[in-house]
Amino acid sequence: PRVAVLISGRGSNMAALLEAAAAPDYPAEIALVLSNRADAAGLAHAAGRGVPTAVVESRGRPREAFEAALQAELAAHDIELVALAGFMRVLTEGFVRAWEGRMVNIHPSLLPSFPGLDTHARALAAGVRLHGCTVHLVTPGVDEGPIIAQAAVPVLPEDTEAELAARVLAEEHRLYPAALAWLASGRVRLEEGRVVGTLPA
Ligand code: GRF
Repeated sequence: PRVAVLISGRGSNMAALLEAAAAPDYPAEIALVLSNRADAAGLAHAAGRGVPTAVVESRGRPREAFEAALQAELAAHDIELVALAGFMRVLTEGFVRAWEGRMVNIHPSLLPSFPGLDTHARALAAGVRLHGCTVHLVTPGVDEGPIIAQAAVPVLPEDTEAELAARVLAEEHRLYPAALAWLASGRVRLEEGRVVGTLPA
C-alpha cells in the first residue's frame, strides 16, 4: 500500500520509516511526507531522499478547512495508509473515522500510561521502572486506539529527561517500521475495534 507519513517537526521516526521502506521486501511504499508546518525539519530530509513532500498549513485556519485540504492531498497521492510521526495536530472524529483501521500513530510511552504530552518527564516523576513506546491505531480519543506493538526500556536511577527520551526514541525507530509493515502486509488488522492477527512475540 501507499503510505503517507504525517509530521510536524524533526521527523526522526519518518526517517526511520523511509530507511526501512527502502528495502525491496518492505510491504509498503512511503509515497508522501506531509507536514502541517512549513518549517518542519523533516521535510528537507524526505525531499533529499526523493520522496514527494507536501505542506498543508494548519495554523490560522478552521479545523474543517485544514482537514479538507489534508484529505485532498492524501487523495491526490492515492494514499491508502497514514502514519502519524510526531504530528502535533489532534484530528477530528470525522477525519479519524474516515481512516479507521488505516491510520497509525507512535506515542512515546507504554500506553495506557502517560497519554498526551511530556511523557518522559511524567514517567520520571511517577517513578516507573519501565517506560517505552507504543504504536497504535488511531481512534477519536487521543492516544486511546488499539495497540499494535510496544517496546519497553528501563528507567535508570540517574536518568535525565533527555537521556530517557533518547533511549525511548531508539526503540521508536525500531518499532515503528516493524509495526507499519505488519499492518501494511495484513498480518494485523482492525476487527470490531480490536487488533487481530499473528503478532510476533
Ligand atoms: C516522538 O517521540 C514521537 O513518539 C512523538 O513525538 C516525537 C517525534 O519525534 N509523538 P520525530 O519528529 O519522529 O523525531
